[in-house]
Amino acid sequence: MNVNYKELAKKYGTPYYVYDFDSIKVNYHAIKDAFKARKSLVCYAVKANSNLSVIKTLANEGSGADCVSIGEVKRALKAGVPNYKIIFSGVGKSDEEIKQALELDILMINVESEAELFRVEIQAKELDKKARISIRVNPNIDPKTHPYISTGLHENKFGVDIDTAKRMYIKAKNSDFLDPVGIHFHIGSQLTELNPIKESSVIVADLVRTLKVIGVEIKFFDIGGGLGIQYKDETLIDPNEYVQAILETLFGLDVTVVCEPGRYIVGNTGEFVTKVLYEKNNGGKRFVVVDGAMNDLIRPSLYNAYHKIEVLNKMDKEKLNCNVVGPICESGDFFAKNIELPMTEHDDLMVIYSAGAYGFTMSSNYNTRNKVCELALENSSVRVIRKRDTFEDQIANEVEFLN
Ligand code: LLP
Repeated sequence: MNVNYKELAKKYGTPYYVYDFDSIKVNYHAIKDAFKARKSLVCYAVKANSNLSVIKTLANEGSGADCVSIGEVKRALKAGVPNYKIIFSGVGKSDEEIKQALELDILMINVESEAELFRVEIQAKELDKKARISIRVNPNIDPKTHPYISTGLHENKFGVDIDTAKRMYIKAKNSDFLDPVGIHFHIGSQLTELNPIKESSVIVADLVRTLKVIGVEIKFFDIGGGLGIQYKDETLIDPNEYVQAILETLFGLDVTVVCEPGRYIVGNTGEFVTKVLYEKNNGGKRFVVVDGAMNDLIRPSLYNAYHKIEVLNKMDKEKLNCNVVGPICESGDFFAKNIELPMTEHDDLMVIYSAGAYGFTMSSNYNTRNKVCELALENSSVRVIRKRDTFEDQIANEVEFLN
């Protein structure tokens, strides 16, 4: 990224995340523009990076928000996303979350089971409202991605099968408190093959046509998120081909296409910057110990995910095999294993790329480590968009010790 990493480290300390807001906007428009004249709504998947400034930047460009907790809904609203562009998904919404979502009058609640439809109806009745809903269909298609982020097979917990969906739509149509306006599928994340998405869209579009015959008019066709990005050498789905493939399945239907990209919009726009603490050798095995850790960026530990790593100003030097590890007390605390890096010195800076999605949002205070600060590059200047935690922040809710 076009920033002075060293200066930022000096000013704000390490580790830190830095995001390129100009690229975030470009990525949003790459998807939005692919829909061209077609009615569409891009709802950024807030879970990928839920910093308020990130959401606000996207809201200003016209983006909606795909949320998976009432907390995310509140973030989206606070950041300026209008309620009529917010959707609320997730397999386990509590009564309280459903109630609040109805009160906030968001575009639709995406229902993931018959039991949940029942709860939404009860909550809507109590509020004397008609709940706009969509139903998440599980098309039983293998998305060919990491099993932890695959969601479109019956063996996964998400959505309902076609027959159940039909039953639910009929129930909703006959209810005074439910308004079935949408249909939804999302088969997985970091998708690099178009075919599984297309096959799913064919199945779900067929269902929409069947529903039309029985008097259920679907207005929103929500194709979920999932577009992959390049971490290493993945071949990518072109947004235009993606949209074209979806639109081809929608013949005869007058629907607004909704999509929920997260990673595609922010993934490659963020970097995690960490400082080298030590080099050490254990019986011939070289470790580079840095000040960032799995609590800051858990993707390598959790999914064995690859993130490109570079040592600043040294990459032209001779490289040797090593593991890059953090200070946390478990062997799963690593950013890379068996990669080639130049010899480092105390205080060298290391950049971990493609960390804009599911980086900070999955971070924790494990080992009583402060969550790091987040910076934004926009129009050639850098600003803080989240301050680093302090120890006091971390203990603030431990009431027994506070007076
Ligand atoms: N919509 C739904 C219903 C989702 O479950 C997800 C992601 C998205 C949209 C956004 O997907 P994206 O466009 O970002 O692929 N923590 C994992 C990824 C988990 C994805 C969960 N759902 C990772 O770091 O790879």
